[in-house]
Amino acid sequence: MTKITAAISAVGKFVPEYALTNKELETMVDTNDEWITSRTGIKERRILKDKDKGTSYMAIKAAQDLIKKSNIDPKEIDMVIVATATPDMLVASTAAYTATEIGAVNAFSYDLQAACSSFLFGMSTASRYIESGRYKKVLLIGADKMSSVIDYTDRATCIIFGDGAGAALFEPNLEGLGLQDEYLRSDGVGRNFLKIHAGGSIAPASEETIKNGEHFITQEGRTVFKYAVSSMADVSEKMLTRNNLSKDDVDWLVPHQANNRIIEATANRVGLDSEKVMVNIHKYGNTTSATLPLLLADYEKDLKKGNNLIFAAFGGGFTWGAIYLKWAYNS
Ligand code: UT7
Repeated sequence: MTKITAAISAVGKFVPEYALTNKELETMVDTNDEWITSRTGIKERRILKDKDKGTSYMAIKAAQDLIKKSNIDPKEIDMVIVATATPDMLVASTAAYTATEIGAVNAFSYDLQAACSSFLFGMSTASRYIESGRYKKVLLIGADKMSSVIDYTDRATCIIFGDGAGAALFEPNLEGLGLQDEYLRSDGVGRNFLKIHAGGSIAPASEETIKNGEHFITQEGRTVFKYAVSSMADVSEKMLTRNNLSKDDVDWLVPHQANNRIIEATANRVGLDSEKVMVNIHKYGNTTSATLPLLLADYEKDLKKGNNLIFAAFGGGFTWGAIYLKWAYNS
């Protein structure tokens, strides 16, 4: 029997209209365009201003973009995974609502949370369902409304994060294209270096937690940076060596967009020139679960069937990893 591999067959995206520029941030906190640009590579980030709209709003838009472009019938979707660190609410799942709103009435769905590695880990999950032979269309959406957890008086975080969503459809492939290999890791040593402390079971919402601003994201940037640089570079290199790929065999590096210096360090370790590295951090900042699918959507027209893509991500938890995927279509 021919082996079933899990390939991405379509992508879609959504980013809110409002662009929060470095110049505007200069009026909000003690920072400047030069510092942000040189330390992170970010020029602006998109913000979902509407107070009554959550992550699902963007997830739905990204999914609808994919559905429109690929002309699929949403009734054929078997499963919807929403990778997110900022679900609409703790319970019920953002994925269940999203699936219903896009007309995926025959799907089951759930959320997946691994901070900035959510989409990467979701690629692994989606692929297993496809490879099992039981499911034919798995929609993986990475979406985050980071502005809902940002303290806009904290210059250590407010300059970095933005809002957005991207979607990818996974389908069976009989030509050997799609996901080839993965190496995924986590380590609870990172728990306190990048987190939203309150609002969960360890520190439920109270007057005290609100007063202390514990519902906002905090990070010890320098520590996270060090772990991210070495981890993303290590796993990317591992993907090449254990699949006998030389740097010339790699067509694209698809790195999580947290900091341009982390992206460059990862590319340097595997010896890739900048033209093989997908980058859109200057436009969107760090959109957490949405960075990888937003890259795919932005670079879709440059991707060719058979291209070798190395995905790499690092996030809170800590969580990190790399995936080797062969692109399955020309657009
Ligand atoms: O996506 C999930 C994973 N997250 C990441 O991978 C993020 C990893 N971390 C980073 O990207 C970087 O650590 C940051 C961009 C967050 C910070 O850059 P950094 O080069 O590590 O800066 P730093 O925290 O070491 O701070 C250097 C200096 C400090 O001043 P002193 O103590 O040297 O006088 C900070 O107070 O820069 C100062 N600083 C700022 N200055 C202007 C910190 N934030 C700002 C700011 N504007 N926004």
